[in-house]
Amino acid sequence: MRLIMVGGPGAGKGTQAQRLNKALAIPWISSGDLLHRAIDANTPLGQRVAPVVAAGELVEDATMIELMRDRLQQPDARQGWLLDGYPRTAFQAEELDFLLDEIQQKVDWAIWLDVPKDILIERSLHRSRSDDNPDALQRRIELLYERTIPILDYYDYRQRLLKIDGYQPPDAVAADIRAALAGQ
Ligand code: AP5
Repeated sequence: MRLIMVGGPGAGKGTQAQRLNKALAIPWISSGDLLHRAIDANTPLGQRVAPVVAAGELVEDATMIELMRDRLQQPDARQGWLLDGYPRTAFQAEELDFLLDEIQQKVDWAIWLDVPKDILIERSLHRSRSDDNPDALQRRIELLYERTIPILDYYDYRQRLLKIDGYQPPDAVAADIRAALAGQ
């Protein structure tokens, strides 16, 4: 199974991805985690993206596409994966499809975790990540609406979109995702 989790900061992508990772035994690949690990390890990539991530801006498409292209071609990703936080722009979505065409794979479902804006802010401000400060968070939410929500049409048009109410307790969200996947 090849799944994409789409949602704003604090929508619960990581929370639900962790559960699906266990239930489906497919690698959980979080673009945010890959970037945060590079930042923590102070690699050249980490040094380059650190100020961008700290400000809540999107890392440029070319960097993200190369990073995910490498990751998706690693041996553990051959039988399936769960992408958390990628793609996040129309260009990333198109490039992902180009890559998947090349390696004869396809996205099964894009899962949209729909959570009201004020709840996204409330959940994220309860954490202590450096990019969870109010200014960066505000910018991440603006970018969600400007750059990421438009890609839902891309998957909806292909009948690959599952819309899930993410404003429920985590167990209820997980149950809705399981039911939506089972119903397809
Ligand atoms: P990323 O790490 O992907 O951050 P994000 O999308 O802002 O998502 P979060 O990790 O904040 O939230 P989440 O949805 O995973 O929620 P979680 O489950 O943790 O990206 C960070 C940065 O990297 C970006 O800003 C950008 O700069 C860069 N980047 C990443 N990908 C990129 C890309 N493709 N292109 C360009 N740049 C990119 O939950 C959050 C909190 O809510 C937790 O405390 C949790 O316990 C709680 N919670 C979760 N679900 C529930 C629930 N149902 N009810 C109550 N509380 C809940």
